[in-house]
Amino acid sequence: ERKCHLSGLWRNEQDSLMEISAVRDDGDFQGKYLTQVTLAGVCARVSPLKGAQQHPGEGGWPTFAFTVRWDKFSNATTAFAGQCFVDTGGKETLTTMWLLREAVGSLEEDWKATRVGRNVFTRKRTPKG
Ligand code: BTN
Repeated sequence: ERKCHLSGLWRNEQDSLMEISAVRDDGDFQGKYLTQVTLAGVCARVSPLKGAQQHPGEGGWPTFAFTVRWDKFSNATTAFAGQCFVDTGGKETLTTMWLLREAVGSLEEDWKATRVGRNVFTRKRTPKG
């Protein structure tokens, strides 16, 4: 089976977009995330992501994790963890689980500050040129 490459442009089932730049030799990577949904219903801004990918190992597909610091429109932070898969047709899929932490005003509200969910990303083809 083919190798999985995290770098490139991806879209999830909520129509959010993320672009991961080249993964460094040590596994670290950076990118940008544009969410299509927001807690407050406000317009999102492109937000920075930072992550790390495991060594793929023998024939295996790498696990990875990254954080998104929602920039300029929210105090929240999201941590994603997932794995890259390639099907027999060469199609790549990133399956992830996420924790979305929002800022609350007091310790008493801490219990309701974290949401959990799942996102599946597929590669968004960029027009040639
Ligand atoms: C906020 O609304 O305060 C920050 C944006 C949160 C977007 C969440 S993160 C998990 C899920 N996956 C997405 O692509 N968007 C939502």
